[in-house]
Amino acid sequence: MEPRIPSIFSQFRLGAPQIHTKMGLLLPYQLKKSPASLLFSKQGLLAVVYCLVFIYICTLFFGSNKSRDNFFAENHECVNRKTESLEFDELYKRLPEVVNQCSVRGRLNIQGFTNTDETKYHVMPTEYALQPRHDCTIISLGVGKDVEAEKQMLAALPHCKFFGADPVNDTNADIYPEVGKFFNVAVGGSNGIMRANVLEDQYKFKDVPYIDIAAFMRNLVKKTVVDQIMIDIEHAEYPMLPFLLKTGQMYKEGVTICQINIEVHNPSPEQKQEFYKYYHLMMAENQYTMLTASTIIGHIRLFMINHADEECHQRYIGDIYDRPYTTTTQKPF
Ligand SMILES: *[C@@H]1O[C@H](CO)[C@@H](O)[C@H](O)[C@H]1NC(C)=O
Repeated sequence: MEPRIPSIFSQFRLGAPQIHTKMGLLLPYQLKKSPASLLFSKQGLLAVVYCLVFIYICTLFFGSNKSRDNFFAENHECVNRKTESLEFDELYKRLPEVVNQCSVRGRLNIQGFTNTDETKYHVMPTEYALQPRHDCTIISLGVGKDVEAEKQMLAALPHCKFFGADPVNDTNADIYPEVGKFFNVAVGGSNGIMRANVLEDQYKFKDVPYIDIAAFMRNLVKKTVVDQIMIDIEHAEYPMLPFLLKTGQMYKEGVTICQINIEVHNPSPEQKQEFYKYYHLMMAENQYTMLTASTIIGHIRLFMINHADEECHQRYIGDIYDRPYTTTTQKPF
């Protein structure tokens, strides 16, 4: 009974010197440091100033980055705001003006390539796109006996391979090989043989094979990334429009188009509705941004870029934009 209590005390007594020893070890260490702490506080003050400057720079950096992030979104929002209430007739009429008002094209390095009656636009490649491991594919649907724009493109983009298709063989089959491979076929939205009035030496009816753009990519071009496609196919673009959506057969087969120059030909009332439907699906997908638009005798020429696709982004947009909305399939605005 008695020996137990002292034994506890003795443990305390044994413990106490140990604590003192520790404090004794700590004390000189702190005392040694305290003269230096005066100097350290000056450094500390400097550090605080540096930190504030750093935070200020960070704010500037992220602030400007934020506006960079958003420029395609701003473009989208602007076009949406100005067109959402328009009926199909009005939309077709107003769209070119709206596209040009909202366009963020000033942010991109766009070059024009002119043939005898029009200009095709192309966002020039980033350093990434010019790396030899990335090929470049440029397609002309509807050659129209004129390859001036393609020739200029080839001069500016010598790493690109060109593929052209036109139901008219005459002249096109002779001149297109100056830039690339020619296919004597009508590319559109379905497959078959059509009796077409085509200009050879004179206008005459001829059986012309036609294939849809997904089959054209799969069987003839055989590339999965299209850097540029120029579509001028005399109203056959209307049945092709659904193929240019993410829900279309071509995208399902893994083909991505980075840039599109398309001539939307003076539509019939039904075609205006087809365009209207395509337009709203395209806006909802938020994959393409329309950068330029012009009108000529009822046709609309549109130039657009795929801002959402990873590969297209790296090839033609790069660091100036961070693709903030691409992880979600759709971003409603
Ligand atoms: C198309 O034109 C090329 C070059 O002139 C010629 O070699 C070829 O036979 C033509 N094809 C048809 C189907 O007329």
